[in-house]
Amino acid sequence: MAGPQLPHVGAEFYSMFKETVELARYVFKNQNGTQFVFTGTGTTGMETSVLSLVTRGERTLTLSTGYFGHRMLLLNQIHGAKADTIEFKDGKAADPDTLRKQLRKSKYSVVFITHVDTSSSVANPVTDLVDECKDAGVLSVVDSVCAIGGVPLDFDRLGADIVFTASQKAIAAPPGAVLIAVSQRAMEYMEKRKVPIESYYMNLLRWKPIMDDPKMYLATPATQVLLALREAMLEVKEEGIENRWTRHRKLGDITRDRVEEWGQKFVAEEGHRADTVTSFWVENGKAGPIQKTLEEEHNIMVSRGIYDDRDRMIRIGHFGILSPEVLKRSLDNLGGVMDELGLVPRQVAVAKRRKKA
Ligand SMILES: Cc1ncc(COP(=O)(O)O)c(C=O)c1O
Repeated sequence: MAGPQLPHVGAEFYSMFKETVELARYVFKNQNGTQFVFTGTGTTGMETSVLSLVTRGERTLTLSTGYFGHRMLLLNQIHGAKADTIEFKDGKAADPDTLRKQLRKSKYSVVFITHVDTSSSVANPVTDLVDECKDAGVLSVVDSVCAIGGVPLDFDRLGADIVFTASQKAIAAPPGAVLIAVSQRAMEYMEKRKVPIESYYMNLLRWKPIMDDPKMYLATPATQVLLALREAMLEVKEEGIENRWTRHRKLGDITRDRVEEWGQKFVAEEGHRADTVTSFWVENGKAGPIQKTLEEEHNIMVSRGIYDDRDRMIRIGHFGILSPEVLKRSLDNLGGVMDELGLVPRQVAVAKRRKKA
């Protein structure tokens, strides 16, 4: 990124872009569908999916396990869908049986699923959920922003119609690019739409020719971001995507072990805790002091809950190029800060100090 500004026309850009799209195919395990990469964020992926697949007035279903599921519902509403939702509360994952029953009750054109909801750190059983959609003949969209590159996802085998992520999470590039895989079925569905897609930019049919031939122009790409994205995905390839999933499983296990050791309560139910992010409840009012002290004393940043949960939830992001060793050291510091603030149960804190001594 720090190199000279790469023009968005010319042989160097064209070949870099083609390589980037091929690397995205590797990261998604997408050999059968169409692969898109363009300037935007995760929200661009969300809104592009809604606009490209849903015609105003159609009935859609959004499975919500947190803030980002709710945002998906909102986008469906904004763009005129008759938008139903099933909300799974209290850290519960989306349940395939509940989905099956709902799909029998009403006819939907598209079901929207979050892979990992970053707000609750719930990891949903995407394979089973997408299978239900396939059985019912309904299109499915998976928001995998907080999963791809860290949590197993094989686009061709999954058989979802759209899966998207953004550059800045487990792929570990700077923000600014959205990556979207689209099934053959969804491409045909869009081509046959009676009402044209009501967007210029967030319109997969308009982006398709550019993916085939980057000499075509739709809008100027953020070239330096794409350069960084290519580099980050080369690192993914060098590590090997399966090895990366294994490393993230380890990062998840290390974090979960610590949270248990500290005696804190997980937000997500057992068996559905993500390998990319871990959330836990703390005493109300303590999330701010934990975040502030950790940053000031150790230069480590953790997140707090979103909106209503801001003062009582801590979220630890553990994805990207993070090593188990660095994570362990960071968790040592977080544990120390919580101890200083009197948040680690007495017996745990004493046992830890003894071990240290
Ligand atoms: C699961 C999920 N979906 C969508 C988004 C939106 O992505 P962005 O903030 O890049 O627009 C995020 C962002 O954190 C996310 O975690």
